[in-house]
Amino acid sequence: MVSVKLTAALFVATLLSAVQAEDAFEIYHEAAFPNMACTALIAKTATLISKKGSYCDIKNQPALGTMTHCLSVIPDPNAKANFIKSCAKFNLTEEQYTDAFNNATNYLFNTSSVEKFNTTKLFHQPVMLSKKKILGAWKSERGRWYNYNYSFYYGVTLFAYWYLVLFMAGLCNLTYFLFPNFVKSLNGSFSNTYRKYISLPAFGSRSHAHHKSIFKYFIFFVPTRLESILISIWLILAIIFTCVNFTHDSPNIIWPIKYAEMGRKIADRSGQMCLWILPNLVLFAGRNNVMQWVSGWSHSRFILLHKWNSRYATLLGVLHGIGMTYNGIGIGKYHTRNKQPYVRWGYVSLICMCLSLFHSMLVFRKSRYELFLLIHIILAVFFIVGGWIHTSNDGFEQWYYGAAAVWIFDRLIRIVRLFSFGIKTAEVQLVANETLRVKVQRPAYWKPFPGCHAFIHFLRPSCFWQSHPFTVVDSVLEENTLTFYLKVKGGVTHGLYQYLSKQPNSKAHIKVSIEGPYGQRVSINKYENTVFLAGGNGIPGLYYEATDIAKRLGDKAKIKLYWVIRHYRSIEWFSPELLKLKEMNIQPIIYITQPHVGLVEPIFSNTVESSEEEEAEQEKKSDTMEESNEYIDQLKNKLKYIEFREGRPDFYTIVGEEIQQADGPIAFASCAHGSMVDDARKGVVDNLDKTQYRVELFEQIQTW
Ligand SMILES: Cc1cc2nc3c(=O)[nH]c(=O)nc-3n(C[C@H](O)[C@H](O)[C@H](O)COP(=O)(O)OP(=O)(O)OC[C@H]3O[C@@H](n4cnc5c(N)ncnc54)[C@H](O)[C@@H]3O)c2cc1C
Ligand SMILES: *[C@@H]1O[C@H](CO)[C@@H](O)[C@H](O)[C@H]1NC(C)=O
Ligand SMILES: *[C@@H]1O[C@H](CO)[C@@H](O)[C@H](O)[C@H]1NC(C)=O
Ligand SMILES: *[C@@H]1O[C@H](CO)[C@@H](O)[C@H](O)[C@H]1NC(C)=O
Ligand SMILES: *[C@@H]1O[C@H](CO)[C@@H](O)[C@H](O)[C@H]1NC(C)=O
Repeated sequence: MVSVKLTAALFVATLLSAVQAEDAFEIYHEAAFPNMACTALIAKTATLISKKGSYCDIKNQPALGTMTHCLSVIPDPNAKANFIKSCAKFNLTEEQYTDAFNNATNYLFNTSSVEKFNTTKLFHQPVMLSKKKILGAWKSERGRWYNYNYSFYYGVTLFAYWYLVLFMAGLCNLTYFLFPNFVKSLNGSFSNTYRKYISLPAFGSRSHAHHKSIFKYFIFFVPTRLESILISIWLILAIIFTCVNFTHDSPNIIWPIKYAEMGRKIADRSGQMCLWILPNLVLFAGRNNVMQWVSGWSHSRFILLHKWNSRYATLLGVLHGIGMTYNGIGIGKYHTRNKQPYVRWGYVSLICMCLSLFHSMLVFRKSRYELFLLIHIILAVFFIVGGWIHTSNDGFEQWYYGAAAVWIFDRLIRIVRLFSFGIKTAEVQLVANETLRVKVQRPAYWKPFPGCHAFIHFLRPSCFWQSHPFTVVDSVLEENTLTFYLKVKGGVTHGLYQYLSKQPNSKAHIKVSIEGPYGQRVSINKYENTVFLAGGNGIPGLYYEATDIAKRLGDKAKIKLYWVIRHYRSIEWFSPELLKLKEMNIQPIIYITQPHVGLVEPIFSNTVESSEEEEAEQEKKSDTMEESNEYIDQLKNKLKYIEFREGRPDFYTIVGEEIQQADGPIAFASCAHGSMVDDARKGVVDNLDKTQYRVELFEQIQTW
């Protein structure tokens, strides 16, 4: 808790320092435009003041006189007063202003009457300006700078939207912990209807944790319905903000050609809105995200927000580029601009943004996560550095302070966390040929909690820079000891698998450092009836939660723990923990989906988990049936208090039955293969109204 408070304080400090710098912002007001328009228009018509001169100077009658005539045309009743106010330094009085106006009337010079009038040479006579041009100039300035204001308001809204949502989520989350009985009492038809149709279901009817794919390489996760709604509202706002309140002002003094004008306005809008999205992009992707503590949302949900924010930001970046291209061509500055370093860095930033969007497709993340991460970080660095240089030209770099501050803050806390754990020697063992059990002493102050995860660095030359997330179990067998159960997959875990299979006893001592604990506690321990649905390596977290509740509530709790595994051998790697269940008030049920596979043969498969491949796997019939039957009997004998069922469970039905049998509020926690988790979710949604009690679902699986 101390570290959380400390980090929160640090974070606020960094944000404040970022905001401090934001006084460079400007909201443009009506009062400024007449002055701006006349100054610009006069300068285009003739040079009446020297470089250091001012239109306020009564000694320069031609300049002051021209200005008064110009202002008199503008339909803003405060134009004169505001000009006089702006001339405070020159002690300009209203009388002097009027005199200058009256005097100039006699001298106004029509510059168009002279062929090739030299507009850059200092001129000593008041000049005539047409009404149409003056009004055009005024409207042009208003159009340009009001667009800046809109960009500001819209950007702030897109930025603040998430904080509003997250603080509300935080309040709900707090309610779950502080007033569990109030939450449990919310089981009427109103709250059930809301939950059935909005907050609980997957976007479509089923798929959420289990990814969907189109055309084989286009794989994606489907958000839940509530997530989709929140993101859609944001996207709709963003689209509206990108499209509305553009004006075409003519004759335009700033951009005479229409497409140059519109290009620039679109570019200003999209560029500035993009800046506002930037800090959140970095914040939501970080491991130490203050808003995660506030809202209680999972890291994987923040990654979802990160993705949608960055998709839209990229679109805005592209729009900005297109708009500026039209503008540059329209005003003939395209080539000179492209030679400027700040524009080139802009290109770098934009290209990095697009590349990283493409490279973040799930196919790449699934097959080469470490490579993806490395490339993503490099691209993000260039995206930020490029953008920073690009915007500092116009004083728009404050958002980059924010983004950089947030990023550095995250990295700093990560280092602090690593140091606070230190480097320890872990005992790593390959069990049942499929799981790596990592046991490591923890410092006494390093306190894990049910459902948390931590990132492990294995300090081996081949992989010390990588850190992978795994669920933490505070050992039930030894004091101050953490255990992790790593399923063997294709990366680091595969390297360890190869190394360990050559060691005696498949066991080795490896130096590790651990970054954590991360994650959010869930309020499942407030429920007397709990059902845990675990699949394969999803067991550790749920086991930790279940035993935690059993220890706290004792006989008052009714806890069921379902565990789905492929074969009996899998029990081996979790057997010390399963043996502990004997003394606890937990009802364990284990499903074995392919009971005869892998009892003798090594059962390791080097594939990334996917149901298609799982189903495609052949059921190898064991030649030594007798041997395996003996093994199974022994196992069952040792674990008599566990119910074994062979075959694939239907979590949809199981959840439905549990709900109907419940004699009080009931909570489910799931962490299993995607399709099973989705079945459980659907089971909860469809059976909400089959009981008079509150039903809660805590989906514990996280993927990103
Ligand atoms: C919160 C959380 C808790 C987890 N708990 C466990 C657990 O208790 N036991 C367990 O066996 N697995 C757990 N996992 C999954 C585990 O992180 C991956 O299996 C592991 O990182 C794979 O390492 P690899 O290099 O061998 O994988 P690869 O073969 O390279 O990749 C396999 C899969 O893991 C994903 N992956 C790889 N590296 C990472 C990473 N650094 N962060 C996120 N995803 C990654 C890839 O996208 C791919 O889909 C957990 C994941 C998360 C997000
Ligand atoms: C009137 O205007 C003319 C031309 O700008 C200038 O030369 C002259 O000094 C002005 N007269 C007074 C009294 O300011
Ligand atoms: C304006 O008035 C103040 C005080 O009367 C005087 O000190 C200052 O020099 C004046 N400035 C100009 C430009 O005349
Ligand atoms: C200024 O001179 C041009 C060219 O002689 C003429 O067309 C125009 O009407 C004049 N403007 C005014 C306000 O008299
Ligand atoms: C216009 O005036 C400037 C400054 O006096 C001079 O350098 C320039 O050559 C002039 N241009 C023309 C076309 O006379």
